[in-house]
Amino acid sequence: MNICVIGTGYVGLVTGTCFAEMGNKVWCVDVDTEKIARLKSGILPIYEPGLKELVMKNVAEKRLAFSTQLEEGLKDAVVCFIAVGTPPGEDGSADVSYVLDAASNIGATMNKYLIVVNKSTVPVGTADKVKNIIKQQLTVRAQADLEFDVVSNPEFLKEGAAVADFMRPDRVVIGTDNVRTAELMKQLYEPFSRNQQPILIMDIKSAEITKYAANAMLATRISFMNEIARLCDKVGGDIANVRLGIGSDSRIGMQFLYAGSGYGGSCFPKDVKELVSTGCKNGIAMDVVSAVEAVNERQKYYLVDMVKKRFGEALNGRRFAIWGLAFKPQTDDMREAPSITIIKSLIDMGATIQAYDPEAIEQAKTVLGDYAASITYSKDMLEAIYNADALLVVTEWRQFRQPDFVEIKSKMNQPVIFDGRNQYRAEQMARLGFEYYCIGRSC
Ligand code: UGA
Repeated sequence: MNICVIGTGYVGLVTGTCFAEMGNKVWCVDVDTEKIARLKSGILPIYEPGLKELVMKNVAEKRLAFSTQLEEGLKDAVVCFIAVGTPPGEDGSADVSYVLDAASNIGATMNKYLIVVNKSTVPVGTADKVKNIIKQQLTVRAQADLEFDVVSNPEFLKEGAAVADFMRPDRVVIGTDNVRTAELMKQLYEPFSRNQQPILIMDIKSAEITKYAANAMLATRISFMNEIARLCDKVGGDIANVRLGIGSDSRIGMQFLYAGSGYGGSCFPKDVKELVSTGCKNGIAMDVVSAVEAVNERQKYYLVDMVKKRFGEALNGRRFAIWGLAFKPQTDDMREAPSITIIKSLIDMGATIQAYDPEAIEQAKTVLGDYAASITYSKDMLEAIYNADALLVVTEWRQFRQPDFVEIKSKMNQPVIFDGRNQYRAEQMARLGFEYYCIGRSC
């Protein structure tokens, strides 16, 4: 099938590349000329395991190409995915202007029947807006009889595992009111459901809501566990045991029950806020979802509170090592990363920071630009702990799991670890002579 994908961010680039890998011919289009020029010379805008190899291979085999020209992308396309950003606006609601711009460009450019697919995360009702804008543009061009369909096909991939998630999705959700379009979309996704993962055809609004409900449900699990972890810390108890205890109930399951320093990223924070906003606009109080966000904001300060309790509120002259800056491992994404809140708070109290992350240092330099004078970025994890008064583990990169604690202890000013991702065992830390603080394990 000939496919056009508008937007070359996480979702667009992964979608386009994975469809190309299955034998389709894909044009990835973006208005950002620099981004397209870099992609053409093999430089990807993001770090995502396995993606670069797949892009190079499909470009070489002529199934994947990049362009700034929508005409080029739409020339032979049967399906056009809109995969542009929907950043949060001032009031928490998603800004869909890029999606509507893309729709308008499609209406101004298409010359034959087209299935327009909303892959971007968009609030319920956006498919109708996309439909109207395309119609308007076609009318302006006196092409009002050109047929098209708008489909909602939300994406559930995780950063850091995006290619694997796209290739082997738990399910594919397709929202459409047209039987023929449903069949074509099913055909497109068939190669990704070889193990009978369901391709769920539903009405458009249910598909749009599904995306937000899925992310809000996952975020709810995390905030819930973070709250229980606080209780464990207060009254005694181990959140790891509680997780096993509740997760063994097949109705609950083990996944997404890890307490930590709060969720971050480009999706959960934004989507949770948008769901609250959609509820509000429609007169529905989203009490649970609002609480999920409030708990998460508070959780980002949990490690900072522990540091304050141990070192006091005046941290002048104190030096803290931070392991992990990205909002989660396997990505260089710093958006809404708990590390930002933690680092800024410590510096505001007078501390200096020695930070290390395997992938996110360049992004961190931009995000934490105002605090640059108090941060040294280390070239490796051991350099970061040199002369530190304490180490804070903020992102659970694999290389932090089993470090040489003897060497670490010898290099630190004081052997103190605040583990924001519960990576180590308290008994082992005590044996090694560390003062060890973690989350919800009464350590
Ligand atoms: C999330 C969803 O998991 C995807 O299904 C969805 O497609 C995506 O958002 C999106 O809407 O595009 P992502 O943000 O990449 O994916 O990352 P996750 O792996 O879900 O992690 C999100 C945050 O939750 C991270 O900060 C992580 O550290 C935190 N987390 C996750 C926990 O604190 N505890 C857990 O048990 C799991």
